[in-house]
Amino acid sequence: MLLCGHRGLASLAPENTLSGLDAAHKQGLTWVEIDVQLTQDNQVVLFHDERLHRCTNGRGLLREHSWQQLSRLDAGRWFSAEFASERLVLLHDYLTHAARLNIKVNIELKLYPKDNAANLSQQVSRVISCGAFAHANLLFSSFEPNSLVQMQRLQPTIARALLVERIPTDWHAALQRLDCAALNCNHRHLTQAQAQAVNAAGYQLNCYTVNSQRQADTLASWGVNMIFTDKPLRQAPGAQHQAP
Ligand code: G3P
Ligand code: MG
Repeated sequence: MLLCGHRGLASLAPENTLSGLDAAHKQGLTWVEIDVQLTQDNQVVLFHDERLHRCTNGRGLLREHSWQQLSRLDAGRWFSAEFASERLVLLHDYLTHAARLNIKVNIELKLYPKDNAANLSQQVSRVISCGAFAHANLLFSSFEPNSLVQMQRLQPTIARALLVERIPTDWHAALQRLDCAALNCNHRHLTQAQAQAVNAAGYQLNCYTVNSQRQADTLASWGVNMIFTDKPLRQAPGAQHQAP
């Protein structure tokens, strides 16, 4: 089972930052997960929340700020003084650094109710097309199925994962319809029978957010392919599946 650093590696460095990527690399991780959103001027930036206050010294809605405004914010001091010089990062710069470190990236297209899903997909696709990123090293995921439809049309050679809280009863039809390679679900609601069914149908199963070694070991024994973790857990025993 693979370990994927959640939001970089959120217990060791501020989430969705280059320092988080470096922390994941230092821990020997080969995958990280990040959240991306659009700035007011259509730049693709790494950020989880709709509002700025938790993870920066800014206030208000991310989507109402330009990249020039956002790039000046302190994105690290909230985590610890050691990271006071941390800045927000654009997707292009993050992927460039990840490629240098040979780390694969699960890009979660993060959408809040007032966001424009089609615009986010187009801008993410533009970033990918402008860089020389290996498509095999990327995975798109979203809670919003329409985003996955759009990414299939825009970047058909990059794998997609449907992101859900609970696995829905129609999961198989949904994965087929969206042409997804993987299902990313919250481990809290997962049963062993569901894990086996997803694997038996030929799909990758990835679980968030697993911060206990014991839970990681259990999920590995169920055949889960990859877990998203904030912590530097041990590589759990179990089937050595490749994530998409
Ligand atoms: O992509 C898995 C996980 O990151 C989804 O939840 O809220 O941490 O983005 P969240
Ligand atoms: Mg996420």
